[in-house]
Amino acid sequence: MIFDIVQAGDPVLRTPAQPVDVSVIGTPEFDRLIANMVETMHDAPGVGLAAPQIGLPLQLIVLQDTADDDEDADDPRMRSTVPLTVLINPNIEFPDDEMVTFYEGCLSVSGWAAMTPRHVRARVHALNQKGEEITLDWKGWPARILQHEIDHLNGTLYVDHMETRTFATTESLTGD
Ligand code: NI
Repeated sequence: MIFDIVQAGDPVLRTPAQPVDVSVIGTPEFDRLIANMVETMHDAPGVGLAAPQIGLPLQLIVLQDTADDDEDADDPRMRSTVPLTVLINPNIEFPDDEMVTFYEGCLSVSGWAAMTPRHVRARVHALNQKGEEITLDWKGWPARILQHEIDHLNGTLYVDHMETRTFATTESLTGD
């Protein structure tokens, strides 16, 4: 099932999400919700989806980027493949202050993008779909996705961090 993706202006995107009650983890209903979020993310298509984006104020995120690892080590995005990842009740911390700025968009700000500074490295503690504690130490593009999606759980959008004068339609950026 593909959910409608909530657009900027809906209060759910500006409201801190509630922690998932761990007793629901592993239930058929919760696994179905996750599967439907993954399907919605693939359909969009996008590389991450947070529950508030489907109108659900819960601390639940799905991520995946199947793009081939970039051959160019100088790629400013530092893009690389992100495996399918489910994060429940995540906490994020930053091991250092190094930042990188690149274009970023959001399925909830459809049709737009802007240069957005992010930490190069991010460390996330969360529960996975099975309720197991996991720690992710990611950098570059995958770390950007983590920061973007966890922002959604705090009622924050990339437009709050962006370099405002770079805000542009994706059409104008790609020339499509
Ligand atoms: Ni987003």
